[in-house]
Amino acid sequence: LTCNAAHFLLSTNDKTIKLWKISERDKRAEGYNLKDEDGRLRDPFRITALRVPILKPMDLMVEASPRRIFANAHTYHINSISVNSDHETYLSADDLRINLWHLEITDRSFNIVDIKPANMEELTEVITAAEFHPHQCNVLVYSSSKGTVGLCDMRSSALCDRHSKFFEEPEDPSSRSFFSEIISSISDVKFSHSGRYMMTRDYLSVKVWDLNMESRPVETHQVHEYLRSKLCSLYENDCIFDKFECCWNGSDSAVMTGSYNNFFRMFDRNTRRDVTLEASRESSKPRASLKPRKVCAGGKRKKDEISVDSLDFNKKILHTAWHPVDNVIAVAATNNLYIFQDKAN
Ligand SMILES: *[C@@H]1O[C@H](CO)[C@@H](O)[C@H](O)[C@H]1NC(C)=O
Repeated sequence: LTCNAAHFLLSTNDKTIKLWKISERDKRAEGYNLKDEDGRLRDPFRITALRVPILKPMDLMVEASPRRIFANAHTYHINSISVNSDHETYLSADDLRINLWHLEITDRSFNIVDIKPANMEELTEVITAAEFHPHQCNVLVYSSSKGTVGLCDMRSSALCDRHSKFFEEPEDPSSRSFFSEIISSISDVKFSHSGRYMMTRDYLSVKVWDLNMESRPVETHQVHEYLRSKLCSLYENDCIFDKFECCWNGSDSAVMTGSYNNFFRMFDRNTRRDVTLEASRESSKPRASLKPRKVCAGGKRKKDEISVDSLDFNKKILHTAWHPVDNVIAVAATNNLYIFQDKAN
């Protein structure tokens, strides 16, 4: 959210949402009438003349201050918050419900999606992510652990218990296995900047959907197909439940998502080319170019290739972000944040 020179940021931790104001300061006022330079109040009887405070330059300071706290509306952990294009409302989603808030009102929200069954034993799916459309303030989507995405139009009813659109790819019976349902669970859903497409991330792939076609995605990009034969061990070490996010670049012509071994993947939608890059201190010196990496899925391992068995599954890139207009990306690798930029810049 941007307003004047300050930025506003919504954050969530567990069940509480906070609105922060982020601002920069490079000037400081001096010469107040009622207080001295240290901020102490001056004795009013000693104030005999009126001063005009002056602004003095100082070192740039970035300040974050909490402005509002929105609490007590979620029973389960919040998985998504999304600001609406009207810049007045936002949504918050947990496993079973999505609530709509006004940014100025902290003690009340409206429930717009509720998938909680009357009997919790009949629960078969949970909400995994939700987002507002970038331009149409009445439209939102939410993804589910069953690999489907529902699109709701808030104009059609106050409680969106029936989707306006439902995106689901028919399952390929030939690749059915014990893990099919787990790996089809969607961990992230993101609208393109244009609002025409949305992208979903499941365990092994990213899919691009045209909002006008619910029956199947228009593109499927394999993120780490070589892990299909490793699902059993990834189930045993719980990695199969990892929630990878995905993002679009500024012009919607490329998408990015994370993988294991501190690898992340980029897919160029026009040329159909893809690349695997690594975010690590050892392999990326400041100002040096990143070298594409290759994973060997079996057979003879070529020089420069990494075998699937030597991948480190504790090093995972779950969060990635692309600058809205520039070719600058941010990649979070466990406790390090990497910022990479196009060499041409
Ligand atoms: C988006 O990706 C395309 C293809 O990789 C690239 O040519 C373009 O510069 C990128 N645009 C932005 C704004 O990042």
